Amino acid sequence: MRLLKEWYDAINNATNVDAIEEIRISIFGKKGVLATEFAKMKTASNEDKSKIAKELNTHKSALMNELSVKKTELQTQELELAMQAEGLDVSLYSTSSEAGALHPVMETMDRIVEYFAALNFAVKTGGMVEDDFNNFEALNLPKYHPARDMQDTFYFKDEMLLRTHTSPVQIRTMMAQKPPIRMIAPGAVFRRDYDITHTPMFHQIEGLLVDEKGKVSFANLKFILEDFLKFMFGEVEVRFRPSFFPFTEPSAEADISCVFCKGDGCRVCSHTGWLEVLGCGIVDPNVFEAVKYENVSGYAFGLGVERFAMLIHQIGDLRSLFEGDIKLLEQFR
Ligand code: PHE
Repeated sequence: MRLLKEWYDAINNATNVDAIEEIRISIFGKKGVLATEFAKMKTASNEDKSKIAKELNTHKSALMNELSVKKTELQTQELELAMQAEGLDVSLYSTSSEAGALHPVMETMDRIVEYFAALNFAVKTGGMVEDDFNNFEALNLPKYHPARDMQDTFYFKDEMLLRTHTSPVQIRTMMAQKPPIRMIAPGAVFRRDYDITHTPMFHQIEGLLVDEKGKVSFANLKFILEDFLKFMFGEVEVRFRPSFFPFTEPSAEADISCVFCKGDGCRVCSHTGWLEVLGCGIVDPNVFEAVKYENVSGYAFGLGVERFAMLIHQIGDLRSLFEGDIKLLEQFR
């Protein structure tokens, strides 16, 4: 038993957690001192056996207790030493910190605004919550007209809704000021859509130019949009296709030659060689009537900013722009 007593000192004198583990094995292991002591009982007399067993069991639990107390003590000590050594200083300035950057959608929006601002277009904004008159009615989209189906949205009470496009800013601007008008309206819009090319919230830029009757032609519109699209996408081909919008007549959709395959045809352009990028047209007389403008002519256009950003940065899934994934966004810095 004397031998066992020495182990109390050994535990007491241990200086690290590894030493504790070694001691534990020496005492409690298969070939440890306890096993050896218990084995000796075989040769003892019956009377001695119970005495020895009792004593050994007392030591057994006492040693176990000592070990665990010492282990905790050493662990705390080691942790404290490690923390001191690592010297974590949260106030330390890191030279590896990186500058933030604009989101690719905002950056694209800025670039579009930059183009039109240089041509003296004023930047107008409106509320994201609109009324039925500005979002639909004044834009020649009467109630129950089937063309409303193209732009289903989220409704509030009293005919208020989340605007489906930036076109209501045309109406608000014309109601607030006299012609001539030369404006763009960037901002968030909302629709009930969700797939790889649509999100319920996205951004548009609207353009409107109004001047005296006979002064604004489709040729003017075509010229400026071609120049603008080349500013945004570089040397691309631009074409206009007849289309329909209730608020313009005639209406067109502008396409650029596919930026991925240079017009040869690929998956992104559905093998047509062309990508649709914006809607436009000559302002419908019914719109001017709604805002009580007389003897004027004008053109208007509208485009989706995310679509521009996707084509410029060759991003496959529009939804990834809104996931806040730093790894993805960092690529566009
Ligand atoms: N408001 C239209 C849309 O969201 C785009 C557009 C604007 C078309 C102006 C023509 C003129 O689809």
